[in-house]
Amino acid sequence: MDYTVKKVWSPLLRLYHWTFAISIGTLVVTGLYIHDPWTNSTLFGTGKFTMALFREIHFSAGFALMAAFIARVYLLIFGNKEERILSFAPVTPANIRNFFSTIGYYLYFGKKEHRPGHNAFAGTFYLLTLFFALGQILSGLYLMYPENLSIQGMGLALFGTQQEARFIHHLIMWYFMLFALVHVYIVIWNDIMDPEGLVSSIFTGRKFFEKKAGPSA
Ligand code: HEM
Ligand code: HEM
Repeated sequence: MDYTVKKVWSPLLRLYHWTFAISIGTLVVTGLYIHDPWTNSTLFGTGKFTMALFREIHFSAGFALMAAFIARVYLLIFGNKEERILSFAPVTPANIRNFFSTIGYYLYFGKKEHRPGHNAFAGTFYLLTLFFALGQILSGLYLMYPENLSIQGMGLALFGTQQEARFIHHLIMWYFMLFALVHVYIVIWNDIMDPEGLVSSIFTGRKFFEKKAGPSA
C-alpha cells in the first residue's frame, strides 16, 4: 500500500513532550519520597542527606516542568496547524463531532476519522493535563517560597493554607500517574490499530497516511 508522509510535530513540540514526560516521572518518584521516605532521610555515618537530595531533584524537575509548560502554551498559539489549540480543543463543530466519534472508535464502534494532529478526545485530556500541570506549578511554588509575599497571596487565594496546598499538590499527582498509564496504553493501542506510525511520530515528528484515504481534516 502507498503512503504519504506528513510532518506534524515541530522539534519544540517533541522537546516539550519528552521534557514534560521525564520531569513528571521524576517529580512523581521524588514527590512520593518527600511524602513518605522509604529510607532513613539522613544516612547515619555516611554524611548523606537523602531527603535534601530528593527535594533538590524535585525542585530542579519542577523548573524543567515550568519551561515545558511555557513552551506548550507558546505552541498552542504560535505552533504549526496541528499544534494550535483550535486544531483539537472540543470547541468547533468538527472537533465536537470528532470527540464523540473517537469515543465510538475506542469502544470498537464505527471507523476512525483520519486527521493529521491529535483527535479531539485526546486533545481534551492534553489540555486538562496542562491545566493540572499549572496547578502543580502554582501549588509547588507556594510550598517552596511561602515567605514571598506575592506568592503567598496567590497561594492563600487559590489553595488556602500550606497544608491544604500540600494536600492538593498530592492529589494532583494521582491524576498524572493515572494519565501516564492510560496515555501510554492508548498510544500503543492506536499504533497497533492504525499503521500511521503514531508512537514514532513523537520522536520523528512525521506520520504516515494511506495515499487514497489521506488525512480528512
Ligand atoms: C507533576 C508534577 C508534580 C508532582 C507529581 C509533585 C509531587 C509532589 C509530592 C507527592 C510531594 C509531597 C507532598 C506530600 O504528599 O506530602 C511534593 C512536595 C513538594 N513539591 Fe511537588 N510535585 C510536582 C510538581 C512540583 C513543582 C512544579 C514544584 C515547584 C516548582 C514542586 C514543589 C514542591 C515542594 C516545594 C514540595 C514540598 C517539599 C517539602 O515539604 O519538603 N512540585 N510534590
Ligand atoms: C514511553 C512513554 C510515552 C510515549 C511512547 C508517548 C507517546 C506519545 C504520543 C505518540 C503522543 C501523540 C499522541 C496523539 O497524537 O494524540 C503523545 C502526546 C502527549 N503525551 Fe506522551 N508518551 C509517553 C509518555 C508520556 C508521559 C509520561 C506523559 C506525561 C505524564 C505524556 C504526556 C503527553 C502529552 C501531554 C501529550 C500531548 C502533547 C501535546 O500537547 O501536543 N506522555 N505522547
